[in-house]
Amino acid sequence: MTKAPIAAYPALRPRRLRQADWIRRLVRETTLQPSDLIWSMVVHDGKDARIPVASMPGVDRFSVSEAAKAAVEARALGIPAIAIFPYIDGDKKDARGSQASDPNGLIARAVKAMKDAAPEVGIMCDVALDPFTDHGHDGLIEDGRILNDPTIERLVEQGLMQAEAGADILAPSDMMDGRVGALRAALEGAGHQDVMIMAYAAKYASAFYGPYREAIGSAKALKGDKRTYQMDPFNTEEALREVAMDIAEGADMVMVKPGLPYLDIVRRVVEAFALPTFAYQVSGEYAMLMAAAQNGWLEEERAILETLTSFKRAGCAGIITYFAPRAAKLLGT
Ligand code: PBG
Repeated sequence: MTKAPIAAYPALRPRRLRQADWIRRLVRETTLQPSDLIWSMVVHDGKDARIPVASMPGVDRFSVSEAAKAAVEARALGIPAIAIFPYIDGDKKDARGSQASDPNGLIARAVKAMKDAAPEVGIMCDVALDPFTDHGHDGLIEDGRILNDPTIERLVEQGLMQAEAGADILAPSDMMDGRVGALRAALEGAGHQDVMIMAYAAKYASAFYGPYREAIGSAKALKGDKRTYQMDPFNTEEALREVAMDIAEGADMVMVKPGLPYLDIVRRVVEAFALPTFAYQVSGEYAMLMAAAQNGWLEEERAILETLTSFKRAGCAGIITYFAPRAAKLLGT
């Protein structure tokens, strides 16, 4: 709560508290630590250890064995969790996203390899069909319409497979209505009561996902846009309704996405609900910052830490970010 200042200039000179590093650190209101970060990571099924993503300088797609090594690195850096997203070859995609629930598929193998290598690191899986569908949408489609309830059945199959493989957190990013409740019931029914759900509760139809769609290979596949299921960027009250519904359905944690352009939503959600709230600093935010830095227009390291700090200042419990290993190294462990 904001309190009125107890004195006016010159009795109160705010600059007194900024005159040296030690006093600035002493009165600092927010902290940023490696434990605030979830490492956003794309995995692929090929032999190459790392394949660079052109639109995200410094981000590579990792093979399964490289992802396992990355989990060990995350542990060493003090990063609590990794969120994995799959790059699927075009010839393995179909209209139903069959590969999404394959118990021997890329995600299942990546989760197992990572949990074997570093069991102390939490693994979060994306629940959505878009990396696996030949039309690039997060759900099943009929005559150009995304089908809500039939999609939920597929998402439940996908989520159960992920839990079976050892995922700690399921993160539905598809924005179908009712999917959190369906996932929670299915997890309870299958004895996975400890598997957590972080709902992409307020996910907007954003221009900032472009580089991600290149990274997972869905950019060329995507027909049309996602405005019939992702949220309208003009809305705030709707975000609060979405979050309330996901919490009522059994979400343990909620997320706002994208991050920086939606800090107002983060703040509203934090103030309205007593549940850990996360922000996703998405691919376009990463690309934008790196492009400016590579042109010499921004001081890269300071800008990275400043954006991450802004999420903590807004009240986030943590941030999903492609900068996680880089930021953790900058912050020290
Ligand atoms: C889709 C999904 C998207 C991201 C995570 N899951 C993109 C989309 O909705 O098209 C975006 C991540 C990023 O941009 O970094 N299920």
